[in-house]
Amino acid sequence: MNDPDQYAVIGNPIAHSKSPLIHNRFAAQTGQALRYVALLAPLDGFTTSVHDFIAAGGRGANVTVPFKEEAYRLATQLSPRARAAGAVNTLTFTGHEILGDNTDGAGLVRDISRNLGQPIRAQRVLLLGAGGAARGCLQPLHEESPAQLVLANRTPGKALALANELQAQGILLEACGFDELAGRSFDLIINATSAGLSDSALALPDSLFAANALAYDLLYGRVTPFMAQARRCGVRVADGLGMLIEQAAIAFTLWRGVQPDTTPLLAELRGA
Ligand code: ATR
Repeated sequence: MNDPDQYAVIGNPIAHSKSPLIHNRFAAQTGQALRYVALLAPLDGFTTSVHDFIAAGGRGANVTVPFKEEAYRLATQLSPRARAAGAVNTLTFTGHEILGDNTDGAGLVRDISRNLGQPIRAQRVLLLGAGGAARGCLQPLHEESPAQLVLANRTPGKALALANELQAQGILLEACGFDELAGRSFDLIINATSAGLSDSALALPDSLFAANALAYDLLYGRVTPFMAQARRCGVRVADGLGMLIEQAAIAFTLWRGVQPDTTPLLAELRGA
């Protein structure tokens, strides 16, 4: 019997990654014969780890912190959304090519629109943060044609620089600092800052949350001060667990050509 196709998630640290569980569940559900493992790459050894994995028969890999920008540079071909993100989370190895894609933002959009049933088209959308996580969301959000797409960051210059860079790729958005949000409200507010990791609150006015709003934090496994504020304001709140599962499902489909059903896994991991 042939060995099953090999896939991996590569990062540092990697021990707590949920990707092996998610992909092995998708494989079982769709009847795909594959093996998906977690690979710890040394901080200065990402490229070597990828080449070793390809030599050992690897067909594709997910890439996580801190290697997404390095994966972007390693790819020999990039999807438009990877180009806009400036980062790659999904590699596919075919012949001598390394295809780089980024499924994070598309996973976010799918979680918001399908799983949470919140429209994005013609809505007022606010994205908080201007680091790598925020950047990965912009092109897929823009593609949904919101009425407004505003990028706000604690350091306004970083939001402005990012908006200028994306404008060259046809992605138009308004950039500002948190101060300039006074008096405005939004239907979808996405926190892509890392403030929640240190339990830091964002200096946001309560008036930001429209009555029908969804407040979405890209982090998962904790209630961040941003989520707590949104709850106090009486709006719907979601964390990034659904995005994690959906970005994996999109990568799985790229590799295997079949679409897994994410609903049972989302329910299982929510319950855990
Ligand atoms: P990531 O890859 O997770 O996006 P990053 O590139 O270091 O990480 O970016 C972190 C983002 O979180 C930045 O937008 C940062 O704002 P600044 O550009 O002003 O530093 C934002 N951030 C982190 N801690 C924050 C806090 N306590 N309040 C507001 N924004 C914060």
